[in-house]
Amino acid sequence: MKHRSAPHGDGVHHTDALRGLASLKPDSVDLILTDPPYGIASKQRLVVRNGRIVSTQDSFGAWDTFARGDHEQLILNVLAESFRVLKPGGALVMFLSREDQGYFLRKAMDKGFVYRNHIVLVRKSPLPSFTKRNWRSGFEICFYVIKPQEPRNHRPRVFNFLSQAECNNVMSFASTHKKTDHPTEKPLDCIRRIVEVCSNPGDLVVDPFAGSGTTLVAAKQSGRRYLGFDTNAGYVRMMKDRLDATLPANALNSVGAHAEAA
Ligand SMILES: C[S@@+](CC[C@H](N)C(=O)[O-])C[C@H]1O[C@@H](n2cnc3c(N)ncnc32)[C@H](O)[C@@H]1O
Repeated sequence: MKHRSAPHGDGVHHTDALRGLASLKPDSVDLILTDPPYGIASKQRLVVRNGRIVSTQDSFGAWDTFARGDHEQLILNVLAESFRVLKPGGALVMFLSREDQGYFLRKAMDKGFVYRNHIVLVRKSPLPSFTKRNWRSGFEICFYVIKPQEPRNHRPRVFNFLSQAECNNVMSFASTHKKTDHPTEKPLDCIRRIVEVCSNPGDLVVDPFAGSGTTLVAAKQSGRRYLGFDTNAGYVRMMKDRLDATLPANALNSVGAHAEAA
């Protein structure tokens, strides 16, 4: 696919992750923070949706359902494109299902990424176990890797060590964190912490599977440039509205708060 110049300024595009990434110049992105489809939707796996317990298949709709092999190929292609577009020393933070984390981390390292850490988001009140035949699901996990600056220089471009407490790789969030109707919205405070540690103001933050726009809202609130892609037109509208209602960093500094506008 032909590469166009990296768009300047902020943007949300109704397009496929791979098309969006292919439109970016090599070595042009500071941070990719993303939460792709996990390919786990099923009748058996349950989530709470609008106060009701429903299957992940009913909750997520079609976007998490893949023909055999297609999910793996999508993530492998996204890893390759992420490596191409990141600046040397730039970071990729990727959520995946617990069972797929190790496999795709290895694949990322095969493509040249260097492992730095995992980050775990702990849910304060996980769903009860109804069958009582397995552990309750109390956390989400992402890996944090970087594109090396040079073969023997594995330092990240940016790592803002805010404080010992804020740079603990275990963060917790309340189940009441959701601001939108997106079924898998990530907790904004945790995502903003990752953005603030792994990028600087003015840097370009990209989320190729942007959903309700949590990464982009975090970037806007922290004074970073942002770019997001999603194939679902409804979610693109949702995140545009959410971003319109989000105060930029300079306005937030003057009121001293990170709240999204009501
Ligand atoms: C797990 S959700 C992301 C949720 C997001 N982290 C949030 O906080 O709202 C994954 C998103 O990827 C989108 N998606 C699925 N396949 C895609 C593709 N090939 N390219 C771009 N977006 C895709 C879905 O529409 C969904 O909104």
